[in-house]
Amino acid sequence: MNILVTGANGQLGNEMRIVSKGSKDRYIFTDVVEAEGQETTILNITNLDAIRRIVKDNNVQVIINCAAYTNVDAAESNQELAELLNAKAPENLALAMKEVNGLLVHISTDYVFGGDPYNTPCKEDQKGTPTGVYGMTKLHGEGNIISSGCEYIILRTAWLYSEFGKNFVKTMLNLTATRPQLKVVFDQVGTPTYALDLAKTIFEIVESRRYEGNTGIYHYSNEGVCSWFDFTKMIAEYSGHTDCDIQPCHSVEFPSPVKRPAYSVLDKTKVKETFGLRIPYWTESLKECIEKITD
Ligand SMILES: NC(=O)c1ccc[n+]([C@@H]2O[C@H](COP(=O)([O-])OP(=O)(O)OC[C@H]3O[C@@H](n4cnc5c(N)ncnc54)[C@H](OP(=O)(O)O)[C@@H]3O)[C@@H](O)[C@H]2O)c1
Repeated sequence: MNILVTGANGQLGNEMRIVSKGSKDRYIFTDVVEAEGQETTILNITNLDAIRRIVKDNNVQVIINCAAYTNVDAAESNQELAELLNAKAPENLALAMKEVNGLLVHISTDYVFGGDPYNTPCKEDQKGTPTGVYGMTKLHGEGNIISSGCEYIILRTAWLYSEFGKNFVKTMLNLTATRPQLKVVFDQVGTPTYALDLAKTIFEIVESRRYEGNTGIYHYSNEGVCSWFDFTKMIAEYSGHTDCDIQPCHSVEFPSPVKRPAYSVLDKTKVKETFGLRIPYWTESLKECIEKITD
């Protein structure tokens, strides 16, 4: 089977490159630019004709969409671009898959939730109530995929980090090493997710063909719950940056262009039961990632 990965130079895309090595399927890794030392086919997912061409030329049966506009703050002042990448582009991919009876695996976010005051983990069929442009455009993307009539797996994930690209873990590794004191918000609660764990899950679902008869929306993050403060404390502990005094603070102390969800924990019961998964606890995966970054 021929599988096309978009956004292959991003966090999740790079982890997909790693986990798919040695697969019985053929993977085609695409992005808007080439990455040094990596084989990358140029594909801009805002261009429907280009998607159709690459699908036809390579007889693509599955697209794994790792591309997106992921800058949550900047999305507030770039709504048009965020909508293009997070809503229109996934619709393009869905249409291209619909035309060949293929499957679209698409990644969405816990930030489609948060506008209502939840205090129990969010389920797949819960109404989306985004608090900002990023979450709203990702919700539009989900809607466009569903309306297209294509076969899809939408995996909503949260607080993604990896050894690749820019992310919270890398930022905090730097800050806890260089600052004597740091304040981090404790009133936003969710679950960190190591992109490698998510990539392994996507790979397993596709490689095993267990998506057949199981299409729909799923939630995937690591196990457990924490605040950004707790997350930072563990980053400092695992990296040995114990000289930094890390203190909890409220979100109001950090003025931001966007209101982030206070609680966006995802309920993962469906993905675990459907695909028989054991999901790693968030601290185990964090430790593994930090060891890779600091090695
Ligand atoms: N990061 C998080 O905390 C988080 C949380 C929940 C859900 N998610 C979702 O998880 C998925 C993966 O996120 P990630 O953090 O791995 O993303 P990422 O690191 O930002 O990677 C996205 C990739 O898409 C590429 N891209 C941008 N515009 C494109 C276009 N028009 N055509 C093709 N590729 C394009 C980007 O290239 P450039 O860098 O050159 O623009 C980048 O290589 C996304 O759907 C995201 O919404 C992420």
